[in-house]
Amino acid sequence: MGLLRRLVLLLAALRAAALTVLITGGNGGIGTELAVEFAKAGHSVISACRGRSAHVHERLVEEQLEARVRIILGLDVLDDAKTDAFFDALQAEGVVLDVLVNAAGARLGRVATWQLAVDTYPGTTEPMQLGGLDLKLLGKVFAANAVGPVRVTEAVLKRRLLRSPGGKIAHVSSKLGSIASNTATGQNYAYRMSKSALNAAGKSMAVDLRPQGIAVALLHPGYVATPMTGDRGDLTAAASAAGLYRRIVDDLDLAKSGTFFDTDGSALPW
Ligand SMILES: NC(=O)c1ccc[n+]([C@@H]2O[C@H](COP(=O)([O-])OP(=O)(O)OC[C@H]3O[C@@H](n4cnc5c(N)ncnc54)[C@H](OP(=O)(O)O)[C@@H]3O)[C@@H](O)[C@H]2O)c1
Repeated sequence: MGLLRRLVLLLAALRAAALTVLITGGNGGIGTELAVEFAKAGHSVISACRGRSAHVHERLVEEQLEARVRIILGLDVLDDAKTDAFFDALQAEGVVLDVLVNAAGARLGRVATWQLAVDTYPGTTEPMQLGGLDLKLLGKVFAANAVGPVRVTEAVLKRRLLRSPGGKIAHVSSKLGSIASNTATGQNYAYRMSKSALNAAGKSMAVDLRPQGIAVALLHPGYVATPMTGDRGDLTAAASAAGLYRRIVDDLDLAKSGTFFDTDGSALPW
């Protein structure tokens, strides 16, 4: 076989293996590094941002990956009309997604809504302990972290935007949503409840979408230094995204659908 022919076949094979991935929370710490990770591996990314994209834009320029990532503004996961309009536009273009990553998560108020209490993380001011709960805030966090990913997934599935069979859905959840692991620290009602509920939804999706050949995972990204944590954490966003990428691309399949993965690939208890 001639060299040119082999090159053409190789390029065709590479193109066939390239995935189209949509990431919500596209301008966030983890959402941005996930876009970088997928793009570096040769995949096409739609970075779905709410109203700003400076951070993801800057990182893509730094990594010279702008050509592989399309940044689209206007996806507010709290808003039906905006979510519908966002995905109507993609449907009109005939976009087919291989992977949907729900990485948008609430950061309301001055500091992160999920942080452990003030005695654990000095600087945290939001009332997350019994006796001082802000129920309005709790409802908002729940709407963003639990209902938001369900709204987005519904919008994608209704429009048949996700490849079937073969598509994957990854919800960025949190170990704080693990009820079984919550044996010592307690507190954090808003964030824990929102992520436990997301886990429940993700598990149902795994059951319901199995006949369509769509695999679903819940992912804990680690304690990651991002704006959400006030840039505190055990992991950089890039290191977390590298682990999440491996879970989505290498580990998640129909056999593992419905797993709650830690960043390192181990399964977390519910
Ligand atoms: N960092 C950690 O240690 C950690 C641990 C466990 C789980 N997580 C989860 O990881 C995910 C990413 O968090 P992160 O650490 O990267 O935080 P981040 O940097 O604050 O990013 C959160 C992203 O979510 C977006 N967002 C918030 N509300 C939204 C809405 N209503 N509609 C659309 N987008 C919205 C934000 O958009 P704007 O850019 O417009 O503000 C931001 O881009 C979240 O689901 C979080 O709960 C993080």
